[in-house]
Amino acid sequence: MQGERKQHWENVYSVRGPSEVSWHKPHLGNSLSLMEKAGVTRDARILDVGGGFSTFADDLLKKGYCNVTVLDLSGAALGAAQARLGAAAATVTWIESDILTADLPIQYYDVWHDRAVFHFLTAPDDRRRYVETVRRSVRPGGHVIVATFGPDGPQQCSGLPTMRYAPEGLHREFGGAFELRDSLLEIHRTPGGKDQQFVYCHCICLRG
Ligand SMILES: C[S@@+](CC[C@H](N)C(=O)[O-])C[C@H]1O[C@@H](n2cnc3c(N)ncnc32)[C@H](O)[C@@H]1O
Repeated sequence: MQGERKQHWENVYSVRGPSEVSWHKPHLGNSLSLMEKAGVTRDARILDVGGGFSTFADDLLKKGYCNVTVLDLSGAALGAAQARLGAAAATVTWIESDILTADLPIQYYDVWHDRAVFHFLTAPDDRRRYVETVRRSVRPGGHVIVATFGPDGPQQCSGLPTMRYAPEGLHREFGGAFELRDSLLEIHRTPGGKDQQFVYCHCICLRG
C-alpha cells in the first residue's frame, strides 16, 4: 500500500507541472496568516507535511523563518521544490518519506503544517497512525495547522478518494490531546476553474 501510494504521487508529478495540479495555489496565504496570528516565532521548528512543490517553504524563508523542514513521499515533488528555491534550498531540511512510517524526532517540532494530505487517509487505522505521529513529534504547546476538504469539498482528488471535514469533525479525529484554537473556510479555485471548499484548523498540542 505504501509503495502504491508513493508510485501514485510520483506518477502525478511526472505528468503534471506545478501550476497544473488541482491543489495549486501561488501562495498558501491562509496557512501563513494562521501562523502569524498564532504568534509563531521566527526560530520555530516548522514541519510541512506533504509539502509537494507548494511555495510554503519559500514564503516562510522570505518572512525570516529559519528552521523549515519539508516532508513528502514524492522525490519528484521535493526535487522540483528544491530546484525552484535554488541556493536557498540548502537552508531547508528535506525528508522523502511516507508520513505514516516517518521516523521523526520526539517532541521536536513547534509547528506541524499539512495542507491536503490528511484528507487522503480514508482508513481509520491510517488516521490513528498519523495523529500518533503528530502527538509524538510535536512538542506540548506546539501548533498543528491542518487543511482538508470541507463538508462541501470534493469526494476525490487526483484519482484518490478523500474525506471531508467540518472543523469540529477534524478536531475530533485528533482527540483530547489537542485543543482547537481557530478554524476557517476557504474556497480554492483550481487552475481548471473549479471551486473547492477547504477547512483549516489550528490546534494546540496539549500533550505528547
Ligand atoms: C494534494 S498535494 C498537496 C501539496 C501541498 N501541501 C500543497 O498544498 O500544495 C498532497 C501532497 O502530499 C504528498 N503525500 C500524499 N500522501 C502522503 C503521505 N502518506 N506521506 C507523505 N506525503 C504524502 C503527495 O506527494 C503530495 O505532494
